Amino acid sequence: MNRTYFKDKVIIVTGASSGIGLASARLFGTLGAKVVMAARSIDKMLALAPEISQNEDDVLCVKCDVSVEDDCRNLIEATVAKFGRIDILVNNAGLSMRAMFRDLDLKVIHRLMDVNFWGTVYCTKYALPYLLESKGQVVGVISIAGYSALPARTGYGSSKYAVRGFLDTLRIEHLKDGLNVLVFAPGYTASNVRNAALVADGSEQGSTPLEEGKLMSAEQCAMYLAKGLSRRKSEMILTGLGRATVWAHRLFPRLTDRLTYGFVAREAGSPFK
Ligand SMILES: NC(=O)c1ccc[n+]([C@@H]2O[C@H](COP(=O)([O-])OP(=O)(O)OC[C@H]3O[C@@H](n4cnc5c(N)ncnc54)[C@H](OP(=O)(O)O)[C@@H]3O)[C@@H](O)[C@H]2O)c1
Repeated sequence: MNRTYFKDKVIIVTGASSGIGLASARLFGTLGAKVVMAARSIDKMLALAPEISQNEDDVLCVKCDVSVEDDCRNLIEATVAKFGRIDILVNNAGLSMRAMFRDLDLKVIHRLMDVNFWGTVYCTKYALPYLLESKGQVVGVISIAGYSALPARTGYGSSKYAVRGFLDTLRIEHLKDGLNVLVFAPGYTASNVRNAALVADGSEQGSTPLEEGKLMSAEQCAMYLAKGLSRRKSEMILTGLGRATVWAHRLFPRLTDRLTYGFVAREAGSPFK
């Protein structure tokens, strides 16, 4: 990776209070970027800010619920007021779920679409004029589930497929304008995402069915993101299992459905049981 690529770039990371977003904010700060951290947990971000950059003037923390359009507009305005430009927008804030559709309160799907899809659309809409000016970059952190569906994640998969469709379209609209649009799909990564995932009634799952210690670390995932950005890539699909799943879904969809069923059936507390 070209480590000087990020020097003095203004980078907004949504969902920067935890997991992949926090690791990315840390990495961008280490590489000399001016980092804007956005999430709902403002106290947590303010406490973390000194770790992001040695120069406190190079970090801005903005309280932002990405499902609220005014919060996203404010995030962009606050960034431009402080730094005067935007080079990279990382739409990372996200929420997962685990419950069969037949049992699901529909408010769960609404919430996932509001955070994962609309959060990306709102932030991108308000940042776009500045990104076009800087010939900058917009990223959507999706998931392997944004290519190949996972059962008991109807709202999650739908929202990630939707983000992919949105960003793939935006890329073509601005093909001649110097805007780089990256669809970034991590595989399983150790984070809080499964604890915070919503179950059928909309409450938090509060535990993880996976052995988080065996997954890719958020720091490794952030390294791949930085690498993809510095090469102005259009798409990145992480982990061997992730890439195999996406290709198998394209080439052998019915077989992949059966394999995916078996995979989720073996999860701790599987919704199929
Ligand atoms: N971990 C994985 O296995 C994995 C795999 C593929 C894709 N992803 C994707 O990676 C992204 C980051 O997830 P993670 O794994 O790092 O999970 P995480 O540790 O749970 O972090 C999620 C982040 O999103 C923020 N967030 C949630 N709802 C928000 C809202 N309404 N407005 C603003 N921020 C909000 C959270 O901050 P606050 O609670 O402070 O708002 C937190 O900073 C997500 O889009 C997720 O879907 C994760």
